[in-house]
Amino acid sequence: MKRTKINVLLRLDKPVGKVIIKGWIRTKRASKTFSFMEVNDGSCLKNIQVIANADIQNYSQIDTITTGTSVSIEGELVESPGKGQKWEIQASDIEIINIAPESFPLQKKRHSDEFLRTIAHLRPRTNKYGAAFRIRSEMVFAIHKFYNEKGFIYLTAPLITGSDCEGAGEMFRVTSLDPAQVKKQGKMDFRQDFFGRESSLTVSGQLPAEMFALAFGDVYTFGPTFRAENSNTSRHVAEFWMLEPEMAFCDLNENMDHGEELVKYLTRHALEKCEEDMALFSRFVDKSLSQRLDTIINKKFVRLSYTDAVEILKKAKKEFEFRVEYGIDLQSEHERFLAEQYFKSPVFLTDYPKEIKPFYMRMNDDGKTVAAVDLLVPMIGELIGGSQREERLEPLEKRMDEMNLPKNDYWWYLDSRKFGSVLHSGFGLGFERFLMMITGISNIRDVIPFPRTPGSIDF
Ligand code: 4AD
Ligand code: MG
Repeated sequence: MKRTKINVLLRLDKPVGKVIIKGWIRTKRASKTFSFMEVNDGSCLKNIQVIANADIQNYSQIDTITTGTSVSIEGELVESPGKGQKWEIQASDIEIINIAPESFPLQKKRHSDEFLRTIAHLRPRTNKYGAAFRIRSEMVFAIHKFYNEKGFIYLTAPLITGSDCEGAGEMFRVTSLDPAQVKKQGKMDFRQDFFGRESSLTVSGQLPAEMFALAFGDVYTFGPTFRAENSNTSRHVAEFWMLEPEMAFCDLNENMDHGEELVKYLTRHALEKCEEDMALFSRFVDKSLSQRLDTIINKKFVRLSYTDAVEILKKAKKEFEFRVEYGIDLQSEHERFLAEQYFKSPVFLTDYPKEIKPFYMRMNDDGKTVAAVDLLVPMIGELIGGSQREERLEPLEKRMDEMNLPKNDYWWYLDSRKFGSVLHSGFGLGFERFLMMITGISNIRDVIPFPRTPGSIDF
């Protein structure tokens, strides 16, 4: 007989007779005549209760069952007289697969997030992290569903690259050179390296996505991206997943329309498809979560220019750690002030000074600002960063020269502006930041299975 998952059993509206479940013991209460066990198999938040009477074979072994022990249980699915559960299993055979001794760290009901981070390999077996990672999985599916229904082409952008899309120099080098050899020669000779030149892990799939948008119209890429920025904050990790749609014949306003539709769709999907797991977060993690998600779904996002935002921030009666002046790159404290306190809504900020944005953004007619857009959301700050792209060859080359970018390395990118170039736009949504927003989890390390941060690569 095949095992049935617990989420399937709990959804049944009539008993099905004999079943087999396999999973891990959460709790056990044993006596001489019978025992109760709560079993979880990760398929849902809820456990299923198992009752074993002393007359079953192996009953003597029940003593050895501890929290965390893996088991296979055969039994009859019956109506439960207990509160809060429809079904329970009357066991006929219990097989212990592997005992978890007392050193199994998840003995208590509650542990701090900090402690659980030190056992990231075991935390998926807790209620909170089980819920978080089921939601994460469902959201990956929702992203593909959203784009598939819209007829977007999915492109898997390469992870190893020869160009620095964001121009921030925060890249992890990829090399097959032997460190001992490098030391002997006193330098890294990239001509001798695997690709014959410097190469790195990508910070963004945008540049390849632009090439595909100029062939397929609407495309998206969604995958891991890497940043060697040494910022130890609750919103940065060195390896994170980014969703990047790129759309031909789409201007900055349509780009924002798309971002707003996407964020609303994904949020609604989480509430509908992950109801039980989402409820855990609004009950135990963040009491204001439901209201915040309601705002995201129902309120029209605010749109305003960087220049206007700076004026608001300068007039704000609030002490910021970083002083606000036109030209600064806004800090998370400024972004959160706008979204959380001033507008109480997600806010698209547009038209940033060219000096603080990458080379590929379209120059506005004022010659000073570019057609950039960031989406700022409560609790997080920047969730999305994007722009209308510079589709005109001359202004693009001019900007690359100003920024000292090696144009030769971008010959293929420049080609796209020579052969049938069209207006186009796109953005990147930080997937982990999105998960923080919808769960209320306040540290990015807790929404990614095994976080990579400065000085930490356990697991
Ligand atoms: O604003 P960013 O740097 O934009 C780009 O990389 C563009 N090339 C995207 C595009 O237009 N296709 O990054 C996009 C988003 C940010 O808004 C943020 O949500 C997330 O990626 N992000 C990070 N998330 C976690 N850890 C980090 N270190 C992040 N850096 C950026
Ligand atoms: Mg950005």
